[in-house]
Amino acid sequence: MAIPSLKMNTGAKIPQVGLGLWIVLPGFVAKKAVRSALDADYRHFDTAQAYHNEQHLGAALKESGIDRGEVFITTKIRTTNLGSDDIIPSFEKSLDKLQTDYVDLLLIHFPVTETRKAAWQKLEEIHKSGRAKAIGVSNYMVSHLEELLKECTVKPAVNQVELHVFLQMTELVDYCKKKGIIVEAYSPLAHGHGMDDPVLQKIAKKHGKTTAQIMLRWCLEIGTVPLPKSTHKDRIKENIDIFDFKLDIGDMAELKKLDRGFRTCWDPTNVP
Ligand SMILES: NC(=O)c1ccc[n+]([C@@H]2O[C@H](COP(=O)([O-])OP(=O)(O)OC[C@H]3O[C@@H](n4cnc5c(N)ncnc54)[C@H](OP(=O)(O)O)[C@@H]3O)[C@@H](O)[C@H]2O)c1
Repeated sequence: MAIPSLKMNTGAKIPQVGLGLWIVLPGFVAKKAVRSALDADYRHFDTAQAYHNEQHLGAALKESGIDRGEVFITTKIRTTNLGSDDIIPSFEKSLDKLQTDYVDLLLIHFPVTETRKAAWQKLEEIHKSGRAKAIGVSNYMVSHLEELLKECTVKPAVNQVELHVFLQMTELVDYCKKKGIIVEAYSPLAHGHGMDDPVLQKIAKKHGKTTAQIMLRWCLEIGTVPLPKSTHKDRIKENIDIFDFKLDIGDMAELKKLDRGFRTCWDPTNVP
């Protein structure tokens, strides 16, 4: 089944679910997860320099024989490579590891105060060279986006942030929507926490789905792109089987109440 996609501000499409590859052990585990995902019709993969598995994603995609043009690959420049002299050489290494001559999306992994402005100019350069079809950011809050939008010549296509029913980030999601920036939901399963929540269980029962599927469907309902991670074939399949039902207004109202600002990853809120 073809997975629905959203249109980015570049005009290109982004498949609305991607396989997250952190913390997926480099090597056999990563390759097996990618193969299971391809079998389950995933065509979108989210890696990063910091995950140490770009080469295993590249190898698994190559071995699959699937056309490069059918797959959406994201990588991210790690914080230690954000110095403006390091970005392009580190990106070229990523391309080598991924066995490709372009990525579909290249992100700044975190808004490091000292380096993020000059780093964006380098991403624009890479984008103009055609080696990143789209560029974007990750862990950017409204203040970081405001700064970037004032100065950029290429607008970010995507902002990838922690987002799930327990951390709904409504102001940020609304801001990105207004600015034409797609929000990707990282840790959309709250890194495995809270799946036994009674509200989630009740809604899951009503739709004949699992609580994980309710959490992921919620991400779709608010117009974002969830990036669930699993290394288990059955869960990988389960996590993309979310396009045959919808959450209704009542479900969404109940899920709204689960927002409790619960973070599982780094908190960029106070990064100046
Ligand atoms: N940009 C950033 O700074 C950033 C930060 C964090 C994450 N991310 C991205 O977001 C992706 C996902 O985030 P995440 O890995 O933190 O968390 P997640 O996808 O919210 O949760 C993953 C956890 O849930 C378990 N799980 C997966 N599917 C399940 C299911 N159907 N039922 C029950 N448990 C399930 C996984 O275990 P098993 O693997 O054992 O199935 C794992 O322990 C990452 O892989 C990465 O690509 C980006």
